Amino acid sequence: MSIPQETLDQIQERVDIVEVISVHLPLKRAGRNFRASCPFHHEKTPSFMVSPEKQIFHCFGCGEGGDVFRFLMKMERIEFLDAVRSLAEKVGIPLPKRGDASTERASESVRLYEANALAQSYYRECLLGKEGEEARRYFSNRGLEAKTIEVFQLGYAPSSPNAFLTRASSKGFSEQVLLRAGLILKGEDGRLRDRFRHRLMFPIGNVKGRVLGFGGRILDQGEPKYLNSPETEIYSKGRELYGLSLSGKWIREKEMAIVVEGYMDLITLFQAGVQPVVSTLGTSFTREQARLLKRHTHDVVVVFDPDQAGEAASLRGLDLLLEEDLSVRVVTLPGVDPDDFVRKKGSAACWKEIDGAKPLIPYRLDRLASKISLKTPEGKAKACQEILPSIAKIGNAVLRSEYIRELGERLSLKQEDLLSELKKVKEPSWGKEKEIPGKNIQTPPPPAEVMLLQLLLVDEKWIPFVWERLETDELSDGRTQKILSTLYERSKKGEKTGVARLARELREIMGGGFFSEFIGDSLDLLDKEKALTDCVLKIKATQKIQRLDQLEDEIRQAERSKEEGRLKALMEEFLAVKRGVVLTQKTKERT
Ligand code: GTP
Ligand code: MN
Repeated sequence: MSIPQETLDQIQERVDIVEVISVHLPLKRAGRNFRASCPFHHEKTPSFMVSPEKQIFHCFGCGEGGDVFRFLMKMERIEFLDAVRSLAEKVGIPLPKRGDASTERASESVRLYEANALAQSYYRECLLGKEGEEARRYFSNRGLEAKTIEVFQLGYAPSSPNAFLTRASSKGFSEQVLLRAGLILKGEDGRLRDRFRHRLMFPIGNVKGRVLGFGGRILDQGEPKYLNSPETEIYSKGRELYGLSLSGKWIREKEMAIVVEGYMDLITLFQAGVQPVVSTLGTSFTREQARLLKRHTHDVVVVFDPDQAGEAASLRGLDLLLEEDLSVRVVTLPGVDPDDFVRKKGSAACWKEIDGAKPLIPYRLDRLASKISLKTPEGKAKACQEILPSIAKIGNAVLRSEYIRELGERLSLKQEDLLSELKKVKEPSWGKEKEIPGKNIQTPPPPAEVMLLQLLLVDEKWIPFVWERLETDELSDGRTQKILSTLYERSKKGEKTGVARLARELREIMGGGFFSEFIGDSLDLLDKEKALTDCVLKIKATQKIQRLDQLEDEIRQAERSKEEGRLKALMEEFLAVKRGVVLTQKTKERT
């Protein structure tokens, strides 16, 4: 029996390889990737990498690698089909049982995708045709350009009761399939008709850009304003984020995601050049959506519409993002929704607002302060009751302490008291952080140091450039230090360096796959100067970051033992060092 590719894709979209692997191995973050000791061969230094972006793993040491199915097959020594089965079960996707009639069912779920694809092209055709005139005018009145309509594959569902049904039937789709896809429905009179009539159509795609369902907006006033596809075998609104298939790459590039509420908000922002944007389609965040976002970035800015500008309930809903360790900021655009704002004020103004977004906890404090007095005992108690449960959900000890400090200041309460209240709020998961076993094993050099050497070994003429900017003792790893100083010495004497030997040496440090796809990604960069500068800055920043990690540990301890004075001193040092990091990143030239 074979499982349709569609089903495999569906499963892969819903599992996160990082989560699956971390059940089996302790993964440590290493830049964009995660690292561990390879479970498939014996090694002293961890060279097993997992990429959340690419959803693959790879071991430099033994060359094993592949997707999440491959990992399970190797790890649990099972057949491919069993690996698929076990993951399918985990994410709740029904699979055909061996050799029975339900294989047909699975291939019918492929039919649902096909029906949606047909619907999309049909609605597009209608938008561009004679019956689409009013819809075209609507879009153009709202400032959408032809290109945007194309990019988002917007369409129009005509008014006649079963235009789509007729088309789809003529293409061989059964009523059964169309019903299951939610594209048609049975009226009270028992007759089948199109679900979407006389509506502007917004196809909802998954991360692979496949159409799962639709949102349909009414052209005039009326109810409901938006009619959406029902939940189907392939579409669940809590699992998708509108726009992500287009904005994903921008989110990764800008290292942030902007979250808005509506279809039109998303589209106009995107069109105006605010591309790292997704929409929750008016519902509050689900854990699945948070995880979906987390594959692309850890920084989220939520833009609220002014009408319900951060109602307490929707703000509380954002706790879910904190629990997933995302950093959350919030902004309300002055007076209007994002769509109006960007059309009236332009994208620069919009970015300015977004850059000024406030972290969730201070934002909530401000809102509380505008409603109740935080000076009275009742007000203080209320504020604690509102805010502490959210703070307790933050995984990062530094952030947590910082917010406790801020809360203490705003309410004129002792941090110590807040900390004991915090303990009561919830048996916090962060109190139980496990020590990672094997922390002291010898690790490979930091990627930036390896990358730097790779670039230099490939192209020697850049050695003086780096030499002017970086001392060898700024490298954190003895092995890379040694190679770099050899390069410097030779270069100073004007000698050509025997790069082949050094490359071999570096390859040994890194295990077999020196030019593995993980670190080789950027080697073809055209802009060598930028790549080298980035490495140098990164190396300089890393020193500081190590200190920050150390401080974070100490802060956590002080927090536990409630040593307020020490906590304060540590926080101050933390912030000072942190500012230093930013400084080194900005003031680059050093001669
Ligand atoms: P415009 O009015 O065209 O600007 O749409 P909008 O996208 O700005 O919508 P609005 O701010 O009114 O609502 C935000 C989101 O909530 C919409 O994009 C829809 O996803 C959802 N929504 C709004 N109204 C309805 C409705 O009547 N039914 C359903 N199911 N969803 C709705
Ligand atoms: Mn709107």
